[in-house]
Amino acid sequence: MKLNSLGLDPQKTKELASQLNVLLANFQIYYQNLRGIHWNIKGKNFFDLHIKFEELYTNANVKVDEIAERVLTLGETPLHTFDDYVKVAKVPVGKNISKDENAVQLIVNSLTELLKIERQILNAASEADDEGTNSMMSDFISEQEKTVWMMNAWLGRSI
Ligand SMILES: [Fe+2]
Repeated sequence: MKLNSLGLDPQKTKELASQLNVLLANFQIYYQNLRGIHWNIKGKNFFDLHIKFEELYTNANVKVDEIAERVLTLGETPLHTFDDYVKVAKVPVGKNISKDENAVQLIVNSLTELLKIERQILNAASEADDEGTNSMMSDFISEQEKTVWMMNAWLGRSI
């Protein structure tokens, strides 16, 4: 079989890029959820959470770019319109959330969905010998699992 210039199976590479596009779309929903709660949060935890949500959306913004550029590296076009994002969204859309516990729960629920997609990509990347995508996914997964722990701790729950 003829490999592409990355040394990878072209068909598997195309499939991985398409899964990364699904992750990209869902990350954009997560990013916008974070902007929403950064803006709309109310109550005694305002100052802490307003800053924490900014930290998270800044981090998500960097990851969105990394995912899109991985799609390009794999030879495909990253999804870049809101209508495409909404079509493949699995992350729940948060609207009019101003209560602190609901905002933090939205983060947990969003990350739970992102982790599912990332694990699927991780498995597919291993199967395709795509170490670049694989290591990106494992970095995302361990970091997000830690965030889920911290958000659950804030909520007074275990994972
Ligand atoms: Fe702001």
